[in-house]
Amino acid sequence: MAKRNSSLGKAKEAKNDEFYTQLSDIENELKHYKKHFKGKTVLCNCDDPRVSNFFHYFAYKFEDLGLKRLITTCYKNQERDLFSQNDSERAIWLEYFGDRNGNRIPDPEEIGIHYFEGNGDFRSAECIELLKQADIVVTNPPFSLFSEYMAQLMAYNKYFLVMGSQNALHYKDVFPLIKDNKIWVGYNAPKLFQIPDHAEGKNIVVVDGVRYQQFGNIIWFTNLDIKKRHEELILYKKFNADDYPTYENFDAIDVKEVSEIPVDYFGIMGVPDMFLKIYNPEQFELIGIGSGGLAASIGVKKNYRGRTDIALCVNGKHSCPYSRILIRRKEA
Ligand SMILES: C[S@@+](CC[C@H](N)C(=O)[O-])C[C@H]1O[C@@H](n2cnc3c(N)ncnc32)[C@H](O)[C@@H]1O
Repeated sequence: MAKRNSSLGKAKEAKNDEFYTQLSDIENELKHYKKHFKGKTVLCNCDDPRVSNFFHYFAYKFEDLGLKRLITTCYKNQERDLFSQNDSERAIWLEYFGDRNGNRIPDPEEIGIHYFEGNGDFRSAECIELLKQADIVVTNPPFSLFSEYMAQLMAYNKYFLVMGSQNALHYKDVFPLIKDNKIWVGYNAPKLFQIPDHAEGKNIVVVDGVRYQQFGNIIWFTNLDIKKRHEELILYKKFNADDYPTYENFDAIDVKEVSEIPVDYFGIMGVPDMFLKIYNPEQFELIGIGSGGLAASIGVKKNYRGRTDIALCVNGKHSCPYSRILIRRKEA
């Protein structure tokens, strides 16, 4: 099982999804995807436009990206004290078709405000109707609903760029999508997310009077093509049995660092999750995951030395919590 980031783990358990993405993190990632947006309708479907930097980014970049339409839907929180507290009785969605008066600023009178019948849940029929109209979905969705969120994007065959926990790489309904090259990992790993004034917990930092929750394992997931997916990892280390031990319960070698993948080995290798950040499907093939039910399905043996969980073992120890992705080089 993947090592669990304690802040994120707690957020998930408490279903506290109220942490907000910084504009600089959106800009840093989106700059790699510009070519995909020309003439497209973008949907941000977990975004209160009053606090969401996703809305801000796309509204201000509308002309630069050549967008056709921007739709932003706002989830109406039932709890009064949450950050995205909605003082209206109903959830809203906004629509923007770009600058009309020539000042290149999204003015209030240029933004259409519509009311939902329901609460703006991304799974509601009203939101799904807007999802159908979108070409690309971009947001930071509630992590507690990540599997459902991803399943919906796949079911409606949408292009997307969304944030999630690195732990999701191991989810039984997410890893198969990665393995089949239907989704992949983006460029950056944003760390600081703005939180409400009253939010408590560990890993809170204050910068210039603004409170942030610090996370260590948030990444971007996408199915938009990106340059790094076609860049070859340069391999230089030679295989030797001491540095690359063989697992005791699966026929593969253990590689501790992605940069140490041997240049002369073409069997199955277990590598850290970080590998997925540099994964180029022209150079490597994904075989599976090293722990849990997905590992069992590819033949990692169970009940190793009395343990009932399933995880790769090397030198009498479980390699997890240093979780592993199983890969194989493609021969040139
Ligand atoms: C991690 S926050 C990110 C907010 C915003 N997208 C951003 O990046 O700044 C996730 C947001 O999803 C909202 N949310 C929670 N459940 C939702 C649902 N079922 N449908 C739509 N939005 C939801 C939460 O209120 C929260 O504001």
